[in-house]
Amino acid sequence: MSPNRTIRSRELLLGVSGSIAAYKAAELVSLLGKRGVSVTVLMTAGAAQFIGPLTLATLSRRPVVTDLFDPACPDVEHIQMTERADAMLIAPATANILAKLAAGIADCPVTTAALALKPSTPLILAPAMNTRMWEHPATRENLRRLKSRGARIVPPAEGLLACGTVGVGKLAALEDILKVLAKALA
Ligand SMILES: Cc1cc2nc3c(=O)[nH]c(=O)nc-3n(C[C@H](O)[C@H](O)[C@H](O)COP(=O)(O)O)c2cc1C
Repeated sequence: MSPNRTIRSRELLLGVSGSIAAYKAAELVSLLGKRGVSVTVLMTAGAAQFIGPLTLATLSRRPVVTDLFDPACPDVEHIQMTERADAMLIAPATANILAKLAAGIADCPVTTAALALKPSTPLILAPAMNTRMWEHPATRENLRRLKSRGARIVPPAEGLLACGTVGVGKLAALEDILKVLAKALA
């Protein structure tokens, strides 16, 4: 089956965390929408420093979850979202989010939804960070733990990073992220 057919009409939770690459989430949501995926965006407070929730709400045509304690979106809704989800993608995933997921912490909409996912629901992580953060033993260990629990990792690419250095850490190409998502949903 073609990747586009695999992902059409699927229900996706997209977690966006506080990386400079968070602006790319707008293009990602737009691409997913064009391919017929229904996307609910959850953001960390850090992500909202880099891209406005209104942008992602407009592109996804759904409210964006930015606050676990928003009375308009009670906590149980985060659990219900995970019941409906065919997959959860976190892109970009910060070093901080990887550490929290590895430790089972649930202190924001993104980590809470990830922890509440049904065991059969694929979790795809597309990290983006500075090379030293990517190569840090803590991040390596967190990735090993997450992979051993079944998370799929879309590794970052090499290139010129926002901090001005060249190295591994750029968010993977959006098409590569979509390919891993399609494979996870197949
Ligand atoms: C300008 C700027 C860019 C940043 N880019 C990244 C990044 O690409 N990857 C990353 O892991 N952290 C990055 N950080 C650090 C995170 O924003 C910080 O660790 C934050 O606590 C992450 O919170 P969150 O994971 O809840 O979104 C950046 C911080 C700043 C100020």
